[in-house]
Amino acid sequence: MRITELHPGTEHELVLQAEDERAGYRAIIAIHNTRLGPACGGTRLWRYDSDADALADALRLSRAMSYKAAAAGLPMGGGKSVIIADHRHASREKLFQAHGRFVEHLGGRYITAEDVGTSHEDMAIVRRETQHVAGLRDPSPFTARGVFRALQAAARRRWGTDDLRDRTLALQGCGHIGAALARMLQDAGARLLVADMDDARARRVVRAGIDQVVPAGAITSAAAQGFVPCALGGVLDRATIPTLRCEIVVGAANNQLAEPADADRLAARGILYGPDYIANAGGVIDGARYLFGWTEERNRTTIDAIYDTMLEIFASAEAQGITPAAAADQLAEARLGAAA
Ligand code: NAI
Repeated sequence: MRITELHPGTEHELVLQAEDERAGYRAIIAIHNTRLGPACGGTRLWRYDSDADALADALRLSRAMSYKAAAAGLPMGGGKSVIIADHRHASREKLFQAHGRFVEHLGGRYITAEDVGTSHEDMAIVRRETQHVAGLRDPSPFTARGVFRALQAAARRRWGTDDLRDRTLALQGCGHIGAALARMLQDAGARLLVADMDDARARRVVRAGIDQVVPAGAITSAAAQGFVPCALGGVLDRATIPTLRCEIVVGAANNQLAEPADADRLAARGILYGPDYIANAGGVIDGARYLFGWTEERNRTTIDAIYDTMLEIFASAEAQGITPAAAADQLAEARLGAAA
C-alpha cells in the first residue's frame, strides 16, 4: 500500500491518500481535529467525478464531524474516510481489508464506522485488520431517537410543550432513520405525511386512516406544522424555503442547508430550524459507547440530552439575535477552542 500526505490547507491536521493496486483500492482519510479526542467519522464509499471531489468531500465531512462531536460534548475529534469507488476493485472483502490496513496505519488517531455506501458488515471486515472501528451495529435507531428528542425540543420552543400529539409532521425519506423515527412519532401521537423516492418504503410506514403518503416532489411544501428531512442533504435552499408551510424544521439528513445563507432565509420566514448536526448526533454518540465502554444507560442519557443542547442553542440564538445554525457553530467552536 502506498500512502502519501496531501496538503490541502491549514484547517485539517492530517490528510492522507492511500492506494493498493492489488485490491483496486484508493481512499483518503482526513483528520480535521483531535483536540478533544481521537478523530471519529465514518467511511463513505462513493463514485466521485474526480479525485478533487473526493478530497473536498473528505475535508467537508471531517470538519462536520468535529463540530458534531464537540457540540454533543463527546471526547472525540472529527475525521472521515472516503473510498473512491470504481470498477477495478478486486472484491468487497479485499477493498475493506485494504481500508482496515489504512486505518491501522494511523494507530488510533482516527476511528472509523459505517457511512453512506458502507455497512456494519463492511466494518466487520475492517475490524480484521484494525481495532479502530466503532460502527459494529446499526446506528440508525439511535440517530432516530436523537432526532425525536430534537423535535421535542423544537416543539417546546415553538409551541410551549414537548407533546407531539396531534401535530402534523411531513417526513421526507423513509429509509433506516425515517422508518424508525416514524414509529416513535406515531407512538407519540403525531400524524404523518410521508414521502420517499421509493413509494413502497413510504407506504410501509403509514397507518391506514391516520397518515398519508405524499408524492416525493410535494413533501417540502406539504401543509404540516413540522418538516422532518431524513433523506439527502441540500434540501433547504433558495427554491424550497419559500415553499415551506411548516413552523419547525428538524431532521436527520446531513448538511440540510444548501448554503449558510439558508439559515437566514428560514429565520426570515419565521421557521425554527434545529441544526442538523445537533439533531442527528445519536449515531455518533452510540459509537462513543463502544469506544469508551459506556453502558447502554449512559448512551441513552447522552442521546436524550440532545433535547437540552437543542434548547440551549435556541436560547443562545435568541439572546444574541443570530440563527440557531450560527449558535450551534458557536457552541462547537467554543469547545474546540477551549480544548486547544
Ligand atoms: P437511507 O438511505 O436508509 O434512507 C434514505 C431514504 O431517503 C431512502 O429511502 C431514499 O429512497 C429516500 N430519498 C432519497 N431522496 C429522496 C427525496 N428527494 N425525497 C424523498 N425520499 C428520498 O438513509 P438513512 O440511514 O435513513 O439516513 C438518512 C439521512 O440521515 C442521510 O442524509 C444520512 O446521511 C443522515 N444520517 C444518518 C445517520 C445514521 O445513523 N444512519 C447518522 C447521521 C445522519
